[in-house]
Amino acid sequence: MSIAAPAPDISDAGIEFADRDRIAALQLERMRWSLNHAYTNVPHYRAAFDAVGVHPSDLRALSDLARFPFTTKTELRANYPFGMFAVPRGEVSRIHASSGTTGRPTVVGYTRRDLDNWANLIARSLHAGGVNPGDIVHIAYGYGLFTGGLGAHYGAERLGCTVIPMSGGMTERQIQIIQDFRPDAIMVTPSYMLTMVDAMVERGIDPSSTSLRTGVFGAEPWTESMRTELERKLSIEAVDIYGLSEVMGPGVAMECAESKDGLHIWEDHFYPEVIDPESGEVLPDGAEGELVFTSLTKEAFPVIRYRTRDLTRLLPGTARSVRRMQKITGRSDDMIILRGVNLFPSQIEELILAVPALSPQFQCVLDRPDRLDRLTVRVECRADAAADDRTAAAVALKQQIKNRIGVSVVVDVLTPDSIDRSVGKARRLVDNRPE
Ligand code: DLL
Repeated sequence: MSIAAPAPDISDAGIEFADRDRIAALQLERMRWSLNHAYTNVPHYRAAFDAVGVHPSDLRALSDLARFPFTTKTELRANYPFGMFAVPRGEVSRIHASSGTTGRPTVVGYTRRDLDNWANLIARSLHAGGVNPGDIVHIAYGYGLFTGGLGAHYGAERLGCTVIPMSGGMTERQIQIIQDFRPDAIMVTPSYMLTMVDAMVERGIDPSSTSLRTGVFGAEPWTESMRTELERKLSIEAVDIYGLSEVMGPGVAMECAESKDGLHIWEDHFYPEVIDPESGEVLPDGAEGELVFTSLTKEAFPVIRYRTRDLTRLLPGTARSVRRMQKITGRSDDMIILRGVNLFPSQIEELILAVPALSPQFQCVLDRPDRLDRLTVRVECRADAAADDRTAAAVALKQQIKNRIGVSVVVDVLTPDSIDRSVGKARRLVDNRPE
């Protein structure tokens, strides 16, 4: 006799696979509710809608959303800490905050129902990514105000997994636990996974020999080359999970194991738009621009047309009928403009991974000697690289960056372990230019 309760309906009656008309009808109904909820209960939204003369009742079709104003981090910060909440504080069950590199953190809140939806969406994401009830899931996203750890935790529990709540850091201990508890899946930032891989190799452990089968990586941009590297070294399937605190946390979109062709957006809870970051105009599906989200079901912290600053394009569904977003290529605000050329740390990462003597541990440092911006790529060599290889690798990378991106940079090839290791998100860009 089974002691299991009925499985939770993490697919919300099959919406992942529903036809587009059913998805659109559900979105319209929920969007009406969400706009009304925000307008009625959050003074900021009421003022912002009134200022441009729109009212929630103006939404007749999904495309009418374009008439509503955007929301940015600036507004969220201005209402610090709880001014954007749409329910009385007593109905807020949990608070998270995103650190942010400057100023006040952005504070977000969840009702019980929001937490329930979030757990369901993470469970749905994990299942799409190839994790099954009964699997052991090692969570090395940070626990605490960051949404990664607790978000992943309750979702993995909801799916019916056995959860190891490791949090980030203490690399030795992470490796010990992986060896002893034999998890099937790990949830962690890709950069910290690499740190763990290096640490395993140093201790004479073959990373491909662990019990891990699936890596659910996210919270920072990572490239296809990084996927190849992680899959080869660890002998796993690596899938991408996306999200941001303002919109919920991890689990807004997820790559599925069947196709690994971009991330399915859970469109029954989040309505995506892609806009031109300069003009704010909504772009057609397929065009690259900045991703904007409107929450459709969130009670405590609704967001209307929130500008993520993440750059991507919207693509039609494949293995699931909800639309996909391409892997994030960068942010409209960590874009480096070097002597007129736009580039992203992720482009540099692609080129580094193509040079065999170089490891994926790198940092882009910007400074401004003699009034001209200078970009220095600090990158570690692999442990087995000879001194000659290092010199040749520096020349090769510099040349590749020049040929492929069109800018001259300084390349510093460093010995292994020279760059500070992240236990969470890697800090890829260090901007030392004077204001
Ligand atoms: O990083 C939530 C999260 C936790 C996602 C764990 C996935 C896994 P924030 O700290 O608010 O929330 O940071 C959100 O991180 O706007 C992106 O720029 C970046 N980001 C998150 N996931 C990905 C991803 C969490 N899969 C910001 N690929 C977002 C690229 C990502 N960038």
